[in-house]
Amino acid sequence: MAGTEVVLTGLGEVAVRRAEVPEPAPRGVVVRTEAAGVAFAEVQMRRGKYPAQPAFPFVPGYDLVGEVVAVGSQSSWRVGQRVAAMPRSGAWAEHVALRDRDLVEVPADIDAAEAVALVLNGVTARQLLRRAGVRRGHSVLVHGVGGGVGVLLAQLAAADGIRVLGTASAHRHEDLDGLGAELIDHRTQDVAAEVIARAPGGVDAVFDPLGPPSLPTSWRLLAPGGVLVSYGSSATLDQPGPWWRPYVAIARLMAGWELRRLLGRTGGRRARLYYVQAGERSRADLTELLRVVASGRLRPLIAERLPLHEAERALDLHLSGEKTGRIVLVPSADGTGNPKR
Ligand SMILES: NC(=O)c1ccc[n+]([C@@H]2O[C@H](COP(=O)([O-])OP(=O)(O)OC[C@H]3O[C@@H](n4cnc5c(N)ncnc54)[C@H](OP(=O)(O)O)[C@@H]3O)[C@@H](O)[C@H]2O)c1
Repeated sequence: MAGTEVVLTGLGEVAVRRAEVPEPAPRGVVVRTEAAGVAFAEVQMRRGKYPAQPAFPFVPGYDLVGEVVAVGSQSSWRVGQRVAAMPRSGAWAEHVALRDRDLVEVPADIDAAEAVALVLNGVTARQLLRRAGVRRGHSVLVHGVGGGVGVLLAQLAAADGIRVLGTASAHRHEDLDGLGAELIDHRTQDVAAEVIARAPGGVDAVFDPLGPPSLPTSWRLLAPGGVLVSYGSSATLDQPGPWWRPYVAIARLMAGWELRRLLGRTGGRRARLYYVQAGERSRADLTELLRVVASGRLRPLIAERLPLHEAERALDLHLSGEKTGRIVLVPSADGTGNPKR
């Protein structure tokens, strides 16, 4: 039996090819993919700009939801169970071999696209809030609040009673109306001036996925005792040079702020890095997020469901910023991505 997979064959090159269904490892399974997420990570990988990405050619795809169709001789999973995983690459395929220990069970009544939106993006959003230590009554600035992570970050923060200021291009504002965030158009407004006008003492946390061009301003917007969490470098995508250059710049900024903090010169302000890790903590967070979605208290925003063979268009669409909400690849022929409903 064969299925479809997407391959990044070289810088900028996307191919779709037939692939044999893999065999499960002894403590592993093979999953038939119902939905795989499209994120900024794959946009970066296509450009060779994602930290420590696999060498070309490789199958991209950070996260997926699917049904177990084969199990290894020592697997603790059963055929027919529905699971989610975050393999970082390899998810953009009709059939994916995964390790037992990376799987989380997904309730049958959750839409596959909504479930996959929780894997990389939902777990990241939940853990960013935890990393910042913000709670009810605090205020935060979310850069890119209309992005995959940003939407969930704002939803989870608002549900926790946290005031959210968020930057987003004007064309997204209507779609983001119900988010509970105070929106700032970073293209036409002075973000720093807007934040200071709305929160004169500064905010308790800034979540910055933009990187070196933005971090110094983000730092200035912190209230005493506030936390800046740096978790990406999307604003440097078009800069020439190796992938690691912006991360060296981030590390330098972070080291400078940490040194000043240790010398007691930051009014208690701190700067922290965040990078999502697969593992027990992330699996527990995903399980909890799936529960929240099943209860109807959280609704991931899905912009588009595209078949696997339209992966290149999905990447272009994601980068264009035209759509608000997660773009999801759904290998199933009818395009619903959720054969169980
Ligand atoms: N550290 C980690 O573990 C981790 C995990 C997941 C994601 N990330 C990072 O998080 C970021 C977002 O990922 P994603 O998949 O959610 O991306 P996404 O859906 O592409 O969202 C990107 C958002 O960034 C906004 N943006 C771009 N340039 C901007 C600027 N100059 N000022 C303000 N906003 C700007 C866009 O807003 P508009 O279109 O509205 O302008 C868009 O909403 C990426 O940097 C990614 O690498 C990190």
